[in-house]
Amino acid sequence: MTVERASTGIKGLDKLINGGFLQNAVLLVSGNTGSGKTIFSMQFLKGGAEKKEKVLYISTEENVKSIENGFSTFGWDLKKSGIELLSMSPDQLEEDWVSLLNTKIDKGKVKRVVIDSISLIGLYYRDEYSIRRYLYRLISSLKQRNVTTLLVSEMPEGEKKFSRNGVAEFVSDGVLLLEHLGSGSGRFQRGLTIRKMRWTDHDQDIHPYKIVERKGIVLSK
Ligand SMILES: Nc1ncnc2c1ncn2[C@@H]1O[C@H](COP(=O)(O)OP(=O)(O)OP(=O)(O)O)[C@@H](O)[C@H]1O
Ligand SMILES: [Mg+2]
Repeated sequence: MTVERASTGIKGLDKLINGGFLQNAVLLVSGNTGSGKTIFSMQFLKGGAEKKEKVLYISTEENVKSIENGFSTFGWDLKKSGIELLSMSPDQLEEDWVSLLNTKIDKGKVKRVVIDSISLIGLYYRDEYSIRRYLYRLISSLKQRNVTTLLVSEMPEGEKKFSRNGVAEFVSDGVLLLEHLGSGSGRFQRGLTIRKMRWTDHDQDIHPYKIVERKGIVLSK
């Protein structure tokens, strides 16, 4: 049986994961601050928008104007890209918001979603149980839809978890890790690793990458 996969939009990455992300997968994009998580996930949406897919970017950290301005310095005109940008504070991401998002995806036939990021969600719940329950509900409802989702998660420096709450990595279908590998020649190297990709015979190596204006994430060969 052939399964449908969504191209990642990152040149060279599709072939490392059997052709792309499974169409209804929820993937965690995890990494330290400044590792390129926002650029990576916008590149994924750009790839979809270029194929005329409906795509949605939700930021919990920046307002729409500042995202547009930031990306225009990078050479990406998001206003003309067809990517729908939404900004919401994490306290808006309450229980009923999951249903609103699901309705938006279903009615708008949205094919790709990015939530950048899920790290702050935890701040609005008093206890671990509520955070886990919320994330579980969000992720499992997204998996039931005809949409590919990237959840951006800041990796706490020096910790062994891929997300602040430590639960998203287990519930999601895949984990992509963007990290600093240290510096050899005075400049630090960045590396991308596929830590998990369910139902996929994925590559296991660390792939050096650069962040390049206009191009985005560029994997070394
Ligand atoms: N014009 C540019 N040319 C090359 N590299 C750039 C340019 N603009 C930004 N960068 C690189 O991209 C990094 C930021 O990428 P991005 O915002 O995607 O990271 P992030 O992981 O989302 O960070 P955060 O933790 O702040 O959310 C910068 O730290 C810088 O190294
Ligand atoms: Mg970011």
